[in-house]
Amino acid sequence: MRDWKLGHWAVLVLALTAPLGGCGDDDKDTEEQARIDKGLMLSPVPLNLEGKDRDLVGLGSYIVNAQAACNDCHTNPPFKPGGDPFKGEPEQINAEHFLAGGMPFGPTLVSPNITPDASGKPAGLDYEEFLHLLRTGQEEDGELLQVMPWPIYKNMSDRELRAVYEYLRAIPHAEPGP
Ligand code: HEC
Repeated sequence: MRDWKLGHWAVLVLALTAPLGGCGDDDKDTEEQARIDKGLMLSPVPLNLEGKDRDLVGLGSYIVNAQAACNDCHTNPPFKPGGDPFKGEPEQINAEHFLAGGMPFGPTLVSPNITPDASGKPAGLDYEEFLHLLRTGQEEDGELLQVMPWPIYKNMSDRELRAVYEYLRAIPHAEPGP
């Protein structure tokens, strides 16, 4: 009886821990790699990977282009003429003005340009400033962002927010459309 019990427990413990072992981690790595590859494929603009971590840029592109919808508000208009999926047209993102801002929200607010400035900083922000903004919604003057869904974005991990920043660093500078 005693032996049976030990064997029983051994089987139970093995069954419970097996999914947490090596093969589970491999699945996670494969899943992350799939997101990175898909992200690199999804970017509607060419990427400057020089001096950057390709995996982080790919992951950032996945978050921006498959999940966080930054394009919806920071590209004006988000789609090229004839390429608006909301009108049933085959999707064509407005790559020329990608993330260059200029979308009006109400009478006074316009989405800012979040492409790299002349020094390569997205929206002119260094990483600490970007992180603070996305985590707290606070601009430099302490004002809270009113439109941008930072209460959701703030829940991303440090690695994911870094990835978004690295992707924004890798896209070309653009100016808002007319
Ligand atoms: C629903 C529309 C919307 C979405 C989606 C959105 N933003 Fe914004 N964002 C804005 C607006 C409008 C502002 C201007 C300030 C405000 O919200 O009050 C802004 C401000 C910013 C700023 C501050 C720039 C500066 O100069 O201070 C950054 C950086 C930024 N957004 C990045 C992003 C990123 C990255 C994403 C996607 C992960 C994103 N935004 C998604 C609307 C949006």
